[in-house]
Amino acid sequence: MGAVISFTNQKGGVGKTTSAVNVAACLAKRGKKVLLVDMDPQGNTTSGVGIGKKQVKSSVYDALIGAAATEDTVITTKFKNLSIIPSTISLAGAEFELQTLENREACAKKMLASVRNQYDYTIIDCPPTLGLLTINALVASDGMIIPMQCEYYALEGLSQLMISVKKIKKLYNPALQLTGILLTMYNGRLILTTQVVAELKKYYGDKLFKVPITRSVKLSEAPGFGEPICYYEPSGKSALQYMAIAKELMLRI
Ligand SMILES: Nc1ncnc2c1ncn2[C@@H]1O[C@H](COP(=O)(O)OP(=O)(O)O)[C@@H](O)[C@H]1O
Ligand SMILES: [Mg+2]
Repeated sequence: MGAVISFTNQKGGVGKTTSAVNVAACLAKRGKKVLLVDMDPQGNTTSGVGIGKKQVKSSVYDALIGAAATEDTVITTKFKNLSIIPSTISLAGAEFELQTLENREACAKKMLASVRNQYDYTIIDCPPTLGLLTINALVASDGMIIPMQCEYYALEGLSQLMISVKKIKKLYNPALQLTGILLTMYNGRLILTTQVVAELKKYYGDKLFKVPITRSVKLSEAPGFGEPICYYEPSGKSALQYMAIAKELMLRI
């Protein structure tokens, strides 16, 4: 059975999209069949794997509200083993529209039911809120990965997130697991970083992925070329780091 994993953090700009795209592409490069699901109206995951607006006939929005069959929204990317359910700005209205639907928390689960087992991994990129779209993603997921920066408020944000996740688990998805915490934009030379990592280790122990993702200009450049880092600069340090995360992920779920 395929695993569904959400990349979640209610904070924006922490590396959710970058990590979802690159972990997905690295899993695919390692021979796994992967479906990316772009659940952010900004559509950065979609453009990040080289899919332009013109290529999108129907999107995750249509599949979520049941206006299109999920299979019909899947686009095959030019990268080996990697497909995507794209997002467009129309998804911005979904948060409101989902409110009116029955089982409004389970729309993504329903959407993925017919396709998830065609893939080894389904990777969902969440928006930077804990609204209905993120709740939908977590209800549909077996695991979640929390990308985070080693900032002063990161730990506070993390405990808030874990409280919400606990509620979602209790109400809708008791099987949801924390697959791992992924450190992004890491700079080991900063004292603050060392302190935050020590705290994280204390509370979350081996949930922390062994390899952090360091800061790299290449990682921020790659989406502009519509390429995951393992294609944009295959032997660079960021590609190696994300390949290592993919490997560790495969051992975890
Ligand atoms: N390791 C990194 N090094 C440098 N820039 C990064 C790194 N990870 C992400 N970024 C950049 O930081 C910004 C926010 O990242 P993004 O993945 O979009 O975060 P989120 O999806 O959580 O909002 C983007 O411009 C992205 O290119
Ligand atoms: Mg994002």
